[in-house]
Amino acid sequence: MAENIKTARILKFDIFRYNPAEPDKPPYMQRFEVEEAPYMSLFLALNQIREEQDSSLQFDFVCRSAVCGSCGMMVNGRPALGCQTLTADLPEVIALHPLPTFALIGDLSVDTGRWFRSMVDRVNGWIERETEFDRASIEAPMDNATADKIYEADRCIECGCCVAGCAVANVRPDFLGATGLNRIARFMMDPRDQRSEQSWFEVVSDSEGVFGCIGMMACDDVCPKDLPLLEVYSYVRRKAVASLFSSGEDHPARREAEKA
Ligand code: SF4
Ligand code: FES
Repeated sequence: MAENIKTARILKFDIFRYNPAEPDKPPYMQRFEVEEAPYMSLFLALNQIREEQDSSLQFDFVCRSAVCGSCGMMVNGRPALGCQTLTADLPEVIALHPLPTFALIGDLSVDTGRWFRSMVDRVNGWIERETEFDRASIEAPMDNATADKIYEADRCIECGCCVAGCAVANVRPDFLGATGLNRIARFMMDPRDQRSEQSWFEVVSDSEGVFGCIGMMACDDVCPKDLPLLEVYSYVRRKAVASLFSSGEDHPARREAEKA
């Protein structure tokens, strides 16, 4: 009988430690050991470490159910949500680092908010209309197929995993990343937005936007919400090229397309 009882694994967490408020102390990796429990998520393990071993450990969680987007981290070198990742799916030794590309707050905690705020401001991530909003008017109807497409794009929880996993975003802080292109696509599809093709083109057509992507599509692999980022990229790129041809503007992307 006793042989059938599976003993719990002792997980070894190697966790990145650094406090930017103490720049004289260099970053280091600290090992913590935790006995694995059934259905243990990284959130539960980290909480246990903070409660029982080191109360100074910094990491972010709010919803614990893959909704708020605050618990992104590098798990054995791959961006993932801490609350969604079960230790049972990981080896015994688990290395945790903060997401790159975002300002470090401390240990595993990063400031994704500043990055997303700046991205939304750059793409004017809201509905733009020439006519003034009339509060008394009846809500504009929308067909189901369009509403579904917009809903799909709106499922982004702004966790930053796609940005952290993107080779271009890792070397270019100005690159909009998959989430930025997804945000643009969401408003391009929205019939209430009255921006012209040309004004969209100005937002996406440089190397900070859709033409900066080198097509490795790690974003699509790591998105914890399974957003169709490959389709989003193709949609925005097709729209950008179409508006480029209709404008007649001379642009490196147009010359590339004409050669193809
Ligand atoms: Fe996170 Fe996916 Fe949104 Fe990127 S697109 S921020 S990975 S939910
Ligand atoms: Fe909210 Fe993980 S805690 S997404």
